[in-house]
Amino acid sequence: MKVFLDTADMKMIKKYVQLGIIDGVTTNPTHLSKEKEKPEKIIKELVKIVPGDISVEITEKSADKVYLQAQKISKIAKNIVVKIPCHADYYEIIKKLVKEKIQINITLVFSLAQALFMCKLGVKYISPFIGRLDDIGADGTQLLYEIRDMIDNYGYSTQIIAASIRSIDRFNEAIMAIADVATIPSDVFEKSLQHPLTDSGMEKFLSDWKKTGIKQFP
Ligand code: E4P
Repeated sequence: MKVFLDTADMKMIKKYVQLGIIDGVTTNPTHLSKEKEKPEKIIKELVKIVPGDISVEITEKSADKVYLQAQKISKIAKNIVVKIPCHADYYEIIKKLVKEKIQINITLVFSLAQALFMCKLGVKYISPFIGRLDDIGADGTQLLYEIRDMIDNYGYSTQIIAASIRSIDRFNEAIMAIADVATIPSDVFEKSLQHPLTDSGMEKFLSDWKKTGIKQFP
């Protein structure tokens, strides 16, 4: 399973890419708007340090402009994946972009039918938004399981990115649902590296060890 960082925070990305536990990055206009650096500068730096796929979202609205912008974004580097919302107006241009071999991550996916149509168009990734389904009282994890079954049953090649993951529980569920990728925001990612029982267990072992009086071991 691949784990992407869901952020545009360069410090975080550098730290964990170096460690080798991060396989890619997903950005969106919200993430980029929070950074001091200009979006283009961030993206150009990202493509140098991240070995895997980096999703960059379109910011235009009309289908014609989205099409041209997607072509331009994809040319930034080989590992750029263009993020396009799963909107009915874009089906036509998504089909064209796939034919041009442009790597696409379909974002804002909220239903099995949307996921199916994007698989039929042959996009590289679809991103079902788990947290935002939770926000409206729907079951995002259930959708992940359903999309997994649909892709496996019908033999599509599209990969699932579990997105909008806002807790460790949802991260764990994405692992269990066999998402191909989980994209995790910085705070959840750092929390998922640790566990309070690991900390308290270490303290207990170290304090018990002190009781032996041994100064050097081995
Ligand atoms: C990633 O591709 C998405 O843009 C991101 O996970 C959205 O998360 P949010 O719903 O918490 O904003």
